[in-house]
Amino acid sequence: MPPNILGSNFTLQSFGESHGKCIGAVIDGCPAGLMLSEEDIQPMLDLRKPGQSVITTQRKETDVVNILSGVFQGYTTGAPICMMIWNTDTDSKSYEEFKVKPRPGHADYTGFLKYGGFNDHRGSGRFSGRLTATLVMGGAIALKILNKYLNIEVASYTKSIGKIELDTKHIPFDMLMTERYTNDTRCPDANVSAKMREEILNARRDGDSLGGVIECVVQGVPAGLGEPIFESIESEISRGLFSIPAVKGVEFGSGFRGSELRGSINNDSFLINKENDTIVTKSNNSGGILGGITDGMPLVFRVAFKPAASIPKPQKTVDLKTMTESDLIVTGRHDPCVVPRAPPVVDSVVGIILLDNCMKSNLVPRVLK
Ligand SMILES: Cc1cc2nc3c(=O)[nH]c(=O)nc-3n(C[C@H](O)[C@H](O)[C@H](O)COP(=O)(O)O)c2cc1C
Repeated sequence: MPPNILGSNFTLQSFGESHGKCIGAVIDGCPAGLMLSEEDIQPMLDLRKPGQSVITTQRKETDVVNILSGVFQGYTTGAPICMMIWNTDTDSKSYEEFKVKPRPGHADYTGFLKYGGFNDHRGSGRFSGRLTATLVMGGAIALKILNKYLNIEVASYTKSIGKIELDTKHIPFDMLMTERYTNDTRCPDANVSAKMREEILNARRDGDSLGGVIECVVQGVPAGLGEPIFESIESEISRGLFSIPAVKGVEFGSGFRGSELRGSINNDSFLINKENDTIVTKSNNSGGILGGITDGMPLVFRVAFKPAASIPKPQKTVDLKTMTESDLIVTGRHDPCVVPRAPPVVDSVVGIILLDNCMKSNLVPRVLK
């Protein structure tokens, strides 16, 4: 599969660079008959866009999406859907320096090595967090189909920022869904959110940045998704999640903490749900996946984001022209923490992967009614 395409039945091809003319996505394999307009996509893009609060970058990108093809008289036609956003707030000055003095923790050095200096480095080019808007374009469509036709709901939210963590175990799904967007950290608890916010502002004041963890719960996932062994549902979801810049870890269910438990504690006992005679599990340490196949319980996973690389604090780098060690002070407008902007991106990636897998399992008709 070419490197800028995600999925195999419902596919998303991402194009554009951060400070080029535009960024966009081409969706192929979308069923016909879905009522679709820009209004289905724009609200999710708005949740991701920068400049919404003091804890994100102050860039002011309006991120207005245009659908160019694949929709006729308000419905998808079954043809490729091309969507794009013009880049408007582009100030590329500070990026000239990074071509010669690569930022520690960013992709300036590896991008230069890989493409011999021909890559568009302005605004970090293809490596920019801005490109996650292309994932959201496709994600909004996938989530609409999952929601409307398969009753699948996805809720990603901020679980931790630095060392401030919310215990989400006893928060009902509906509350996670509604509370996560009531504050600017995207944490579904107002008190913990206030602490997270303070932590981000402290890091920014110190000329520094912070990382964090996004947790995602998916309800209504049918049992049987995933094609072991190489297309297990964990492999599929992880592949998508690692295409989000700054993602450095993914864990399902009890994850790394589960490795400290005994089997008798970590195993999820099977029970019968007497209300509808279905098999459920008492706990959900497997995160809804056994043997790479969904078991009908909610999917639960967490995604670790590293601290943003571009910080004003002085750092050490190498001047690639003179091949001497050098100091670097990164200027420009950057996110002190990328996590608050990422829940719609995680929702989107999971939406695309789940829809793709539902299509593999023939759960989605070619024409939606
Ligand atoms: C929504 C979002 C916004 C981001 N904004 C920034 C930023 O302002 N400054 C920065 O250095 N990195 C930012 N990043 C992360 C970089 O794009 C990423 O660290 C870089 O491409 C290197 O890739 P890697 O961290 O996956 O190795 C952002 C990531 C996301 C998901």
